Amino acid sequence: MSIYRWLAPRGPSGYGYGSTAEQVTAGLDLTGKAFLVTGCTSGLGAEAVRVLALRGARVLGTARTLEKAHKSCGAVVGATGLCCRRGDGSVRGHASRASGGLGQVSCRLQCRAVEPHLQ
Ligand SMILES: NC(=O)c1ccc[n+]([C@@H]2O[C@H](COP(=O)([O-])OP(=O)(O)OC[C@H]3O[C@@H](n4cnc5c(N)ncnc54)[C@H](OP(=O)(O)O)[C@@H]3O)[C@@H](O)[C@H]2O)c1
Repeated sequence: MSIYRWLAPRGPSGYGYGSTAEQVTAGLDLTGKAFLVTGCTSGLGAEAVRVLALRGARVLGTARTLEKAHKSCGAVVGATGLCCRRGDGSVRGHASRASGGLGQVSCRLQCRAVEPHLQ
C-alpha cells in the first residue's frame, strides 16, 4: 500500500484507506451469521473470507472454478468454497447443494471484478 495510507483522512467512523479488515472487525462476534462472498480467490474477497471466518461467521466463497474456490477457502476454518459462474442459476441453490444451505444470509459481499463491458 502506498504512502497515501498515512496521509489520507479518516472518515467519521475513524477508519480510512489504510484500515485493515481485522482492525475494522476487532471485537465483533459473528457467530451464527452467514456471509456470501463472491470473488473469493484474491484481493478483497479472499481477505473478507479470512477475516469474517476469523470472527466466527460461516462463510461461503464463490469462484469461477471449484479448484480455485477450494484453494482459497479450504484452509480457512468456517469457510466453504463453491463454483458459481454467470448464468449458472441461483447462488442460493448452489449453496444448498454444496453445503447443506447457508440458512439466513446476513450479508452478501460482491467482491468479484466485472469485465468493463458488463459494468
Ligand atoms: N482493491 C481495492 O482497493 C478496490 C477499491 C475499490 C473497488 N474495488 C473493486 O472491488 C472489486 C474487487 O477488487 P480486488 O482488488 O479484490 O480484485 P481482484 O484481486 O482482481 O479480485 C477479483 C475477483 O473477481 C473475480 N472475477 C474477475 N472477473 C470475474 C468474472 N467475470 N466473473 C466472476 N468473477 C470474476 C476473480 O476471480 P478469478 O480468480 O477467477 O479471476 C477474483 O476472485 C473490483 O471490482 C474492484 O474494482 C477494489
